[in-house]
Amino acid sequence: MNQSLSATALAQLFTEARTHHNWTTKPVSDEQIRELYETLKWGPTAVNANPARFLFIKSQSEKEKLLPALMGSNVQQVKDAPLVVVIAHDEKFYDHLPTLFPAYDMRATFESNSQMAQSTAFRNSTLQGAYLILAARALGLDAGPMSGFDNAKLDEIFFKGTTWKSNFIATLGFGEHSKVYPRGARLSFDQAAKIV
Ligand SMILES: Cc1cc2nc3c(=O)[nH]c(=O)nc-3n(C[C@H](O)[C@H](O)[C@H](O)COP(=O)(O)O)c2cc1C
Repeated sequence: MNQSLSATALAQLFTEARTHHNWTTKPVSDEQIRELYETLKWGPTAVNANPARFLFIKSQSEKEKLLPALMGSNVQQVKDAPLVVVIAHDEKFYDHLPTLFPAYDMRATFESNSQMAQSTAFRNSTLQGAYLILAARALGLDAGPMSGFDNAKLDEIFFKGTTWKSNFIATLGFGEHSKVYPRGARLSFDQAAKIV
């Protein structure tokens, strides 16, 4: 397992992979959605907490409900995509810890420290959202992550009365590769990193 992936695989995941804003009509099947979760779930999280929750929105009527929470061009992007996922976290993620991390009982620690629970949930659900983007690319799907929406409004629409809270959303499907935006530069190693 300690081998570098091929240049082709790295291109599909990183160097040639793009954020998509325009979509073909090709649908994503429920099997592909399940395979996406079965892949991303193996990404690491603190105390193996798995705090992220995923609401996959496929039906037209549910998608319509999401539109009022979205900003600007994100409305059209969501309308055009065959699938949208809300990456959320469960505020009570720690209820699963006795099963997920039986080596040491952390449930009570999180339950009595809401700030620690909140930062752990947010940090690790964000990571799991990133695993989702990369898992989608690995499985041949395209993704368009978006944070341009009203989280409180979305939570009111989809998660009222639950312990789920939205983090960001992502369109998923098969992008119109000819319509990607011009590629933005990235910081150089020396701008972004130090070796000490
Ligand atoms: C967390 C997150 C939030 C983003 N929010 C939006 C958004 O609200 N609307 C949008 O059109 N693009 C959004 N983007 C897309 C970014 O602008 C895009 O990923 C970035 O410019 C890199 O593009 P590239 O992958 O094609 O190089 C978001 C990306 C991320 C990761």
